[in-house]
Amino acid sequence: MTRFLEILPDSHQLVERALSLILAQIRESFQVKHQPFFSIVLAGGNTPKPLYEALARENLPWEKIHIFWGDERYVPKNHPESNQGMARSAWLDHIAIPESNIHPMSTDSNNPALDAQKYEAELKEFFQLDWPILDLVLLGMGDDGHTASLFPRTEALKVTDRLVTVGLKGQEPRITLTLPLINQSKCVMFLVTGENKQPALSQIFAVEADEQNYPARLIQPKGELWWLLDYPAGQKLKER
Ligand code: 6PG
Repeated sequence: MTRFLEILPDSHQLVERALSLILAQIRESFQVKHQPFFSIVLAGGNTPKPLYEALARENLPWEKIHIFWGDERYVPKNHPESNQGMARSAWLDHIAIPESNIHPMSTDSNNPALDAQKYEAELKEFFQLDWPILDLVLLGMGDDGHTASLFPRTEALKVTDRLVTVGLKGQEPRITLTLPLINQSKCVMFLVTGENKQPALSQIFAVEADEQNYPARLIQPKGELWWLLDYPAGQKLKER
């Protein structure tokens, strides 16, 4: 794993930096590595929305780009809390991407475990691999140190034999990619803004901390790990 930490002056410049890194990765995957497609896994929550809006303004070979989600709240896609809904309204509804390139987590079986199994099957089918290697995974981080829907001290953190599982935010079920799947990605990029994230970040970057309490510490991909923070979030950390 190669880890990069950059602290940007504000969230606008963080989005600009993230966009430039993502465009460079997509360009390299097609023009240098001649990959047939590029897989990007989306984060939910609020932070990534301006990045998605910026991506909507880019002219990319969308027919070769496949969109997945790192986690999903267990709500319909037209629900205000839906991560799929947010990405569609901010980005995907505004570009010429084939619907078959968009791979949302279904939440309509009224059975989160079944929907997790369905997503796992979809990933295996698409990549034709039991353990897919994702090109780029975007992640956010909660002020409790959770990421995707891998919450502190939950069973989801212990899952090592599945690609997708059910995460619990208190009693609220969510669908989430598992740590082993995320950790075999080529690149994971955290986007974290806001002073409220500072205490968790200090634990995540500490030499020692309880990983069960700060799940984002458990994200250690085989490839590159990027932490992009705005100054309010990262002011006590040193860039590296
Ligand atoms: C979700 C996300 C979650 C999010 C963090 C940060 O479904 O909410 O996947 O992991 O990234 O909670 O959320 P904010 O960006 O809103 O602070």
